[in-house]
Order: sequence, then structure tokens, then C-alpha cells
Amino acid sequence: MKSIKVALGDRSYTINVGANLLAKAGVKIKQIGLKNQVIIVTNPNVASLYGDYLKTVLENSGFLVHVIEIGDGEKYKSLETASEIYESLSNKHATRDTLVIALGGGVIGDLVGFVAATYQRGVHLVHVPTTLLAQVDSSIGGKVAVNYGNLKNQIGTFYQPRLVLSDILTLKSLPQEEFVGGLAEVIKSAIIADGAFFEYIENNVDSILNREMKALEAIIYRAAVIKVRVVEKDEYDTGYRHVLNLGHTFGHAIETVSKYKIHHGAAISIGITMATKLAVTTGFLRETDHLRVKNLLRKIGLPTQFNNISVNRFFNAIKYDKKIHSGRLHFILPRSIGDVIVADNIDPVLIKGIIKNG
Ligand code: NAD
Ligand code: GLY
Repeated sequence: MKSIKVALGDRSYTINVGANLLAKAGVKIKQIGLKNQVIIVTNPNVASLYGDYLKTVLENSGFLVHVIEIGDGEKYKSLETASEIYESLSNKHATRDTLVIALGGGVIGDLVGFVAATYQRGVHLVHVPTTLLAQVDSSIGGKVAVNYGNLKNQIGTFYQPRLVLSDILTLKSLPQEEFVGGLAEVIKSAIIADGAFFEYIENNVDSILNREMKALEAIIYRAAVIKVRVVEKDEYDTGYRHVLNLGHTFGHAIETVSKYKIHHGAAISIGITMATKLAVTTGFLRETDHLRVKNLLRKIGLPTQFNNISVNRFFNAIKYDKKIHSGRLHFILPRSIGDVIVADNIDPVLIKGIIKNG
């Protein structure tokens, strides 16, 4: 098992990464001083795999445990579902001493985190992420939210958990598309901050794809450390944290244009490829580095091209994304593998060229 300390003053916490951590959940939670009532919030899919086991482990450590199940999927990341959870918490007489555990992927983590942040102005929160994306990204850094109308993460806040337990054994049951999609975020982290880590992934593609525990622990730990160091510098996402969005300006546009039929990880993979190509076109990155990135994404089984798309529709989706987010068109561009800059004055002609030619 590996541990990472997230240093955020009185909001500091530890992330544990390792195999069979669910079995140690009771001990780990007691170590941070929590006791009495625990409410696990999860979905039926994850509940059937890990819900009973986690409940029993916690009961054996003396906790009074309830499980709340909500529907599975992005559409349940809503105020309506949050309201259902508030009602269940209230019915179970949850107080500010209650611990709420988010057991599941990023949807559960974001939604349950939002509920934990707002129920009685904040109850204890522990993330037990069970997807690769949740272990390397969404359980770290305190962004919690629900979708509103057609807009993702429109209502939310920052709320740090007390502890994160990333049990890598749970990734054994993850569908291949979800697993490979999470690897797009892992590769993204390496390009942002750690060239040696990128090389490690290149040299260990087979063990990673075979989900060997040693390789999984190594990549999740290293990707998590990268995100932690960024969050520590810019907890509230005022500037530097934008580096985590490498590939996301193009990626979000791909999701929009494809009407969310393309998986998020696949869209980010194409987005990363386009961003590295844009970095070559703008003179920041060597063509050989762009090709290294593209080759690795392909070896992992991720797409690197989005075909048959109208350039104008794609460009309009990018402009729409800019309007609903910061109002500025940011591109995170690598200068080398392991180092990026934020560029916000890129000539639209160059962007359209990337959309047209890839
Ligand atoms: P998800 O939560 O929808 O999980 C994907 C699927 O995998 C679901 O069907 C789930 O039931 C299933 N699943 C989960 N764990 C499993 C396991 N161990 N075995 C088998 N099946 C399992 O998707 P996700 O990719 O984990 O998360 C996406 C969400 O994360 C989005 O809502 C996104 O906005 C959010 N997100 C948040 C942040 C943040 O910083 N807060 C960062 C990135 C993404
Ligand atoms: N997923 C981007 C962030 O946490 O800032």
C-alpha cells in the first residue's frame, strides 16, 4: 500500500492506494477519529459487487452502518437525487458526526460529495473510489457538484474528504471501456508533469492492460501524486489547476458534437492528441513527442482521431464550452512530455487546421 498526504491546512487528508483496502476500511476510518454512524451511498451495480462487503467490514469494526442506493449513471448526478439522499439521511437521523462514504465512480463521488458538503452545512466524507478515473482524478481535490439543466457540474462547491481509500482490487471488475478511458487521464497526468512516468507507462503497457496489481498501484499512485501537487498549489482552481485540463477543450467539444455517444476517456484521448498537435503547430513541442503520445494512446487501445466532422460545428462547440466555462479559450499545451503551459491567445485558424487535419 502507498499513501499520499494532501497538504491543505486544516483540510488535509491522506489518500491510500493499494490492493484489498476495503478490508482495512474500519481500521483506517477509526484512525482518523471517526466513530458511530456510517452511511454508505452507492449505486446498485457497485453495491452488488462491494456494498455488502464494505458494510460487514465496518460493522465488524463497531460502526452502525446503513446503505443508500441511488440509480447508476450520469443522469442521477442531479439535484433531484441529492434531495433523495438528504431525505434518507434525515430519516436515518444523520447528524454532523455522521460519516458519509461515497462508494463508486466519479458520478457517486461528485454527487455524494455535494450532499456531504451541504447536509447540515457539512458532514464527514470519505471517498472509496472504484473506477480508475475516480482513483486518479475525481476523488482527489474536493470538486463536488451536480449537473443542472443540460450543463455539467453547474451547481457545486469545493469540499475535501477526510480520507480516500483507493482499493485497486476493485478495478478488476471494471468494464474495459471504463478502464481504458481512465488510462487516458493517467497518460494526461504524465504529459503534464512527469516524463519518467510517461516512459514507465510506455514500458509497461501489457502489465497495465492485464491489470496487474503492481503496475496498477504504480500508475494510480503516480497519477494521484501529480494531481495532489497541483491541487495543493491551487485548491480553488483560480489558474494553475487548469493544467489538469490538458486535452479537455477539444475533448469536451468532441463529447458535445457526438452528443455524448463517445466515452469521456476516448474523447480526452483524441483531445490530448489534438492538443499535442496544436503544440507542434504553434512551435512549442517537437513532432516526435506528439507522435510518442499518439502511439502510446493507440497501444493502450484509445482512439486518436475523430472522423467525419464539420469543422465549423466542432469549432462552435469549442466556443460554446469557452462561454459556459471561464469565458476564455484556454489550451493546455505541452512544451515537452512532462511540462505544459496555459495558452489563451491561439489563432483560430490554427485551431481549425487541427480540427480539419488532426
Ligand atoms: P461512473 O461513476 O459513471 O462509473 C462508470 C460505470 O462504472 C458505472 O456504471 C459504475 O456503476 C461502474 N462501476 C464503478 N465502479 C465499478 C467497479 N469497480 N466494477 C464494475 N463497475 C463499476 O463514471 P466515472 O468515469 O467514474 O466518473 C465520471 C464522473 O466523474 C463525471 O460525472 C465527471 O463529471 C466526474 N469527474 C469529476 C472530477 C472531479 O474533480 N470532481 C474529475 C473528473 C471527472
Ligand atoms: N478534474 C479537474 C480538476 O479537478 O480540477
